[in-house]
Amino acid sequence: MYGLLRAFLFLFEPERIHRFVSRLIRFLGKHAGLAALLRRRLAVEDERLAVRAFGLRFPSPLGLAAGFDKGEGLAAGLFALGFGSVEVGTITPRPQPGNPQPRMFRLPAQQALINRMGFNNAGAAEASTRYRLLAFRPGPLGINLGKNKETPAERAAEDYLAAFDALADVGDYFVVNVSSPNTPGLRDLQAPEALRSILVPLVAAAQARGGKPVLLKLAPDLADEDVDALSDLAREVGLAGLILANTTIGRPTAEGEPVAKEAGGMSGAPLLGRALALVSRVYLRHGSRLPIIGVGGIFDADDAWRMIRAGATLVQGYTGFIYGGPGYAHRIERGLLRHLEQAGLPGIEAAVGLDAREGAATPSAPARLGV
Ligand code: FNR
Repeated sequence: MYGLLRAFLFLFEPERIHRFVSRLIRFLGKHAGLAALLRRRLAVEDERLAVRAFGLRFPSPLGLAAGFDKGEGLAAGLFALGFGSVEVGTITPRPQPGNPQPRMFRLPAQQALINRMGFNNAGAAEASTRYRLLAFRPGPLGINLGKNKETPAERAAEDYLAAFDALADVGDYFVVNVSSPNTPGLRDLQAPEALRSILVPLVAAAQARGGKPVLLKLAPDLADEDVDALSDLAREVGLAGLILANTTIGRPTAEGEPVAKEAGGMSGAPLLGRALALVSRVYLRHGSRLPIIGVGGIFDADDAWRMIRAGATLVQGYTGFIYGGPGYAHRIERGLLRHLEQAGLPGIEAAVGLDAREGAATPSAPARLGV
């Protein structure tokens, strides 16, 4: 049924549809009773799906990835659609408009999107007010932090701290985003020394606020050795985990596609191979000492299951949700239960890293993601 609706929605400019759908989701989230009712139908409540990570309980391993709710306060309505967690942001300390439109593009043949939103958001103070008022919150709320476009790189740490301070009370976990391709120079902050100067004071601040977990989100375009080094740094400075990965500046599987020439980060199906390879690499290096949220190209339960078996404690999706519609979380959660039953496993936590540990073939990066 969503297939027909999607064909209609896809006739319109992507950001227009995003605004329309956001209004529906906001309405849903404002009515806690309605949200709870819908969640009872859409979320698969089963103890076997529950995951404990960074001191938090996730009712399901599937979360909504950052970028859908950029601090607008939609999370309650998104929880109603069955996600086990919702990560909001990226939120910067001060409001900013983002890049000129159009800045979001569909590639249906590739099941992908390209975006260059540029951290459009209302700023940390406004976001803090909105999330304080959340009527419905059945799982962890992650808050993804960024720096303002005009903040010079050497002052980036101040922005992450300011955004954290404003939002510390309302988030359950926090993410340092240094991996979006649409803020000039942002990804240079993935250099170890630059990153250390951001992470050390932020982890100290998070400790002072009751030990809130801080994670780091990396780009899929980093070389494997750089990811190794950054994963070591993550443990050294006391991060709670890594998110692998953000959108890619590569254009895997989209040659000859005119839209592929648009600047920005690509998400969706073409990312899955690289995300799996990164997850299994980091899992083999650190095991359960550095939990991973695996994200990139998860469209169905098989994708999520592969990501978990590659070493992800939790998974997230965004593009798959756009293509899959409101039944996305429900289908994946049901399918994960089927996989658990077929594998004879008692719960998701028992499946984490099974393929990586057994040395089973985890697909490596597609050759065309040559970045
Ligand atoms: C994103 N993503 C993203 N990530 C982030 O850390 N901060 C952000 O503001 C955004 N914004 C954003 C906007 C749009 C339109 C998309 C499609 C994506 C990246 C997202 O969280 C995720 O890492 C990637 O999209 C890969 O996952 P999927 O989409 O393939 O499931």
